[in-house]
Amino acid sequence: MMSKNNLEWQNGEYKIRTNKELLQIDLILDYLVNQSYWAKNRTAEQMQTVIENSLCFGLYRESRQIGFARVVTDFATFAYLGDVYVLPEFQGEGLGKWLIEVVVNHPDLQGFRRWILATRDAHMLYEKYGFTELKHTERWMEKADPNAY
Ligand SMILES: CC(C)(COP(=O)(O)OP(=O)(O)OC[C@H]1O[C@@H](n2cnc3c(N)ncnc32)[C@H](O)[C@@H]1OP(=O)(O)O)[C@@H](O)C(=O)NCCC(=O)NCCS
Repeated sequence: MMSKNNLEWQNGEYKIRTNKELLQIDLILDYLVNQSYWAKNRTAEQMQTVIENSLCFGLYRESRQIGFARVVTDFATFAYLGDVYVLPEFQGEGLGKWLIEVVVNHPDLQGFRRWILATRDAHMLYEKYGFTELKHTERWMEKADPNAY
């Protein structure tokens, strides 16, 4: 049965799939720990929990996972997009744009009042899909603990 955890999109030799069983967790973790600027301290145990509790999008070339994105959501009102990457050797070919387009158009992620994300320098990527800077920064708060783990 097709469900939100088992959808597939094809673009030439590339595929995006939401089936969590296909995710190559060691590869995702290797990228996040060694190449990302936001998840250098992520542990394998955390990654398991993160994947279990997110709607995950794996980007594949044949059987090799080359990118990832995940959404934390209540599936009715709100979504957070995070851990977005395309491996460096596949960047700049439109795959990141395709990944975000697939994510924001997922049939179970429609009609929300708000999506949020944080990014250091990829604002222009997300702007293509309707994201903007926070309009009322004074209304937003965070409870941050950068050294929590
Ligand atoms: C960001 C990322 C996912 C984009 O994927 P990609 O396949 O390289 O990007 P695409 O080829 O689809 O093109 C991205 C578009 O966004 C634009 N863009 C804006 N900011 C960008 C950024 N920081 N990095 C890459 N592209 C960016 C590009 O110029 C391009 O627009 P154009 O087609 O109008 O020229 C990828 O470069 C990546 O993994 N970067 C390192 C990790 C990262 O920064 N992740 C995002 C964290 S919020």
